[in-house]
Amino acid sequence: MDPFKEKAKCVWIHGPIIVGAGPSGIAVAACLSEQGVPSLILERSDCIASLWQNKTYDRLKLHLPKQFCELPLMNFPQTFPKYPTKHQFISYMESYADQFDIHPKFNQTVLSAEFDSSSEIWIVKTHDGFQYFSPWLVVATGENAEPVIPIIHGMEHFHGPVVHTSDYKSGSEYKNKKVLVIGCGNSGMEVSLDLCRHNAIPHLVARNTVHILPRDMFGFSTYGIAMSLYKWLPLKLVDKFLLLVASFLLGNTNHYGIKRPKTGPIELKLATGKTPVLDVGQIAQIKSGNIKVMEGVKEITRNGAKFLDGQEKGFDAIILATGYKSNVPSWLKGNDFFTKDGMPKTPFPHGWKGEQGLYTVGFTRRGLHGTYFDAIKISEDITKQWKTLKNKSCSDSHIILLNKS
Ligand SMILES: Cc1cc2nc3c(=O)[nH]c(=O)nc-3n(C[C@H](O)[C@H](O)[C@H](O)COP(=O)(O)OP(=O)(O)OC[C@H]3O[C@@H](n4cnc5c(N)ncnc54)[C@H](O)[C@@H]3O)c2cc1C
Ligand SMILES: *[C@@H]1O[C@H](CO)[C@@H](O)[C@H](O)[C@H]1NC(C)=O
Ligand SMILES: *[C@@H]1O[C@H](CO)[C@@H](O)[C@H](O)[C@H]1NC(C)=O
Repeated sequence: MDPFKEKAKCVWIHGPIIVGAGPSGIAVAACLSEQGVPSLILERSDCIASLWQNKTYDRLKLHLPKQFCELPLMNFPQTFPKYPTKHQFISYMESYADQFDIHPKFNQTVLSAEFDSSSEIWIVKTHDGFQYFSPWLVVATGENAEPVIPIIHGMEHFHGPVVHTSDYKSGSEYKNKKVLVIGCGNSGMEVSLDLCRHNAIPHLVARNTVHILPRDMFGFSTYGIAMSLYKWLPLKLVDKFLLLVASFLLGNTNHYGIKRPKTGPIELKLATGKTPVLDVGQIAQIKSGNIKVMEGVKEITRNGAKFLDGQEKGFDAIILATGYKSNVPSWLKGNDFFTKDGMPKTPFPHGWKGEQGLYTVGFTRRGLHGTYFDAIKISEDITKQWKTLKNKSCSDSHIILLNKS
């Protein structure tokens, strides 16, 4: 084996290692770069914001109004509508990365990251055998790193395609097809609506309870209203108000087979991370019968599904709108900062910093708005330490500089 080559695979980073080039990782790198602090982003995919570029459907728009989805230091262009499209959001991300001269290392799946307490550095290993060293590790792999695929009896025998929403692009492939959509969160509801618009026949399985709220109330975004009220009023009162307006604008969703949880929408979101569904036309389609709501699935058969209420129906395709999960426990070794589900144990707004140079961005259950706050705090904290350390370690001779590759 070539010893030189082996040595070249170990790289000391003169700044933090950031895992993940989604909005969160890029935002931290941008804030650091603004302070003159270099960083290295390792990304498993071949582009930035790969969740948005490769794993979302064509007609997706931001769920929240644009002022809640901007990253630090750079606003959306004035021309963006209130709810930008996914393409607009991606173009914003690309200009953002350009603006701050951010060049992640792509095709770098992080297999492990471990703190070495004797040398007090993080050792990050990627799938191609590289090792990166730094005193700081920023976890930015997101709440949506891996799709959740449920085990449903009989699914392996189904005759048609079974697709997770991360692989669903458009309803155009499903024209006149009967499609079973499993899961009634935002993804399941929106895919069902998209299927309707392409003349497919979606059947939506609503096994769990879910809050549906209008996306806007009297011209204002529901999210914005909730945030403003929450500053002044107790949580329970805000929830009461939202539910009152929701029933006024949408009617009683229980009548359409969609059961509301007992806990209010904001209280539930804060306690469990379960996001209320924001209605952009799904309820109208459910009311008119174009989206059929089904109770839980008992089993999948070769040609369709049997339901808990005894009905049996044929389907051409199944779409799993069963959500995502964090993958942090699979690669971050020997730490007790994260739960077994890969979320920080300390909730927002204190979950951004762990021990020994560990940071997390984008695990707030608050989408891009949470990332905004995390990124600023992390970059300020690291910048302070970096400036002290820089003066101290200038003379270190064993350090291998990171070459631009
Ligand atoms: C359909 C959909 C719509 C959404 N709409 C909104 C919205 O309107 N507003 C909002 O605020 N939020 C929305 N979100 C939430 C959205 O996930 C976040 O706002 C945003 O993408 C989070 O950015 P992130 O960088 O934290 O995570 P991600 O965008 O998921 O980025 C994480 C990156 O880490 C990489 N990665 C993962 N594991 C590894 C590894 N082991 N090694 C190397 N790289 C790795 C991934 O490839 C990915 O590029 C939506 C999510 C979905 C799925
Ligand atoms: C993701 O989408 C972008 C933009 O279309 C493309 O350049 C890239 O190659 C895709 N990556 C993967 C892994 O599919
Ligand atoms: C990504 O890395 C793997 C393993 O090192 C390699 O086989 C593959 O060709 C790389 N892909 C790209 C697009 O560079």
